[in-house]
Amino acid sequence: MKALTSKHLPSTTTTLIHRAIVGAPDWWRDAVIYQVYPRSFADSNGDGIGDLPGVTAHLDHLVELGVDAVWLSPFYRSPQKDGGYDVADYREVDPLLGTLADVDALLAAAHEQGLRVLVDLVPNHTSSAHGWFQEALASAPGSAARDRYVFRTGRGELGEEPPNNWLSKFGGPAWTRVTEADDSPGEWYLHLFDSSQPDLNWENAQLHAEFEQVLRFWLDRGVDGFRIDVAHGLVKAPELPDWTGRTTTVTGRKRRPNLTDEGPMWDQDGVHEILRAWRQVVAEYPGDRALVAEAWVQPIERLARYVRPDETHQAFNFEFLKTRWSVPQYRAVITESLEANDSVGATTTWVLSNHDVVRHPSRLGLKKAGSFPAGIAATDEQPDEHRGLMRGRAASLLMLGLPGSAYLYQGEELGLPEATELPAEARQDPTFLGTDGKEIGRDGCRVPLPWVADAPAFGFSPSGASWLPQPASFARYALDSQLGVPGSTYEMYRAALHLRRVRRLGSGSLAWVVGLAGTRKKKVLAFINRDVMIVMNLGAAALPITPGCAVLITSRRLGIDAEGRQTIPRDTTVWLRFGS
Ligand code: NOJ
Ligand code: CA
Repeated sequence: MKALTSKHLPSTTTTLIHRAIVGAPDWWRDAVIYQVYPRSFADSNGDGIGDLPGVTAHLDHLVELGVDAVWLSPFYRSPQKDGGYDVADYREVDPLLGTLADVDALLAAAHEQGLRVLVDLVPNHTSSAHGWFQEALASAPGSAARDRYVFRTGRGELGEEPPNNWLSKFGGPAWTRVTEADDSPGEWYLHLFDSSQPDLNWENAQLHAEFEQVLRFWLDRGVDGFRIDVAHGLVKAPELPDWTGRTTTVTGRKRRPNLTDEGPMWDQDGVHEILRAWRQVVAEYPGDRALVAEAWVQPIERLARYVRPDETHQAFNFEFLKTRWSVPQYRAVITESLEANDSVGATTTWVLSNHDVVRHPSRLGLKKAGSFPAGIAATDEQPDEHRGLMRGRAASLLMLGLPGSAYLYQGEELGLPEATELPAEARQDPTFLGTDGKEIGRDGCRVPLPWVADAPAFGFSPSGASWLPQPASFARYALDSQLGVPGSTYEMYRAALHLRRVRRLGSGSLAWVVGLAGTRKKKVLAFINRDVMIVMNLGAAALPITPGCAVLITSRRLGIDAEGRQTIPRDTTVWLRFGS
């Protein structure tokens, strides 16, 4: 860290945390990557389920928005018990979502329009419908087929107790007992998630070879990389020791969910060997293909181990996503993220929303702003929609001003809130179904997108069908309600992405600025990235725009003070440029 003084900001202290990249960065280092959850993006054939042709038909939206790449959540053949994160065949497309030819068409269209495409790799578990698991069930204990999974004999005299005390993240024991071919009660298999998602055994060398082929299958088809599901869970501690800490995310809505995965089933050293091998595979292909790890580990230094030079290129920064609405917390998490990633030569990522968490405007609209419920039900505290949206926009503009790579989740560019009033019969998240609704689950952030305010299903589906019902309020969030409307959330994102690109903020620097005129340290976050100063005001007092600065973009309409100067109101982020 080096202290700087700027001639533009005479009374301030400026502390450089992160230097700009010199030369052209690898594409992913400053990329904005847009997550498509295919079943909720756009439905082309009217069955109410979004599909791959629907994605292809709307790629122009992503180009207009100005993102660099798309990450597609799973579209593989699947019984859809966990939104496709239960894969029955890694090389086939689920007929609900399309065909292999549709993937090829999507890749070709995306590449033609300058978008890269990452696909999801789900290596921790398969679906119980996968041929490997069906073969394992039909085979004897000790067989090669069973060795692809984690089968064990139970405890107790008759093996009637699970092999250890681990809990599934989705509730209940992490073990299910099978019936052997002769109808006798048999071995147990491990599933860190739903019982329909048996964990694979990454001690098995054949599995390594088989997965490498899966990677090559998609790389040969032209994907630009993979998002690796549950990257921190592939390897379990030898002997599978009991664990008395928390494992499950299912806690009931009154308690905070377990936000970091701890225990002998997570973040074992062995996972890094697997990631290294995959890095070598993608490196063989031209075009800078990239890997991003989903790893819910803590602290940030631990996460940085996943992005060492020979491992995954990126890892989602969930510490940023979990940050409360607090300047000291944002300052700390941003500093720690940049320092930890810089220490291994990696790029920091930033993310606020995805298909597993309550949408960030709704989290920020709660009394405890930025707290982290595992879903919001109609009977829970309802977020303040307006305040949440204002804060959500401020958080997004903060994120997009940071150096590094940013992940957007479909619909956040529209400012979509969480759907909190979905009827029980519509809900499909296995955490809801498996807990008799005690856990409300993740459906609220997965409601199909509104494209057109006065079309059936808000333009999601030509038939008006929608696999989850869309709230009436989605009309005012629909893309066509916001297109070309100054100050709309969509236009804010579009302008921010454009500015970020032309001012090269993604490959830029970060220097904290403390002591701007009129600010209080705990209420105002300010930093300089290249020639842009980003200021976020969380305090009640409106803040005068720094003299000598011009406003590039703002998350909310600015105020005017008694002397006629522009001011930054509460819960607002602005980007400023030195000079008029
Ligand atoms: C993380 C995925 O994002 C989530 O949706 C899924 O339920 C679990 N992994 C299990 O695959
Ligand atoms: Ca469809």
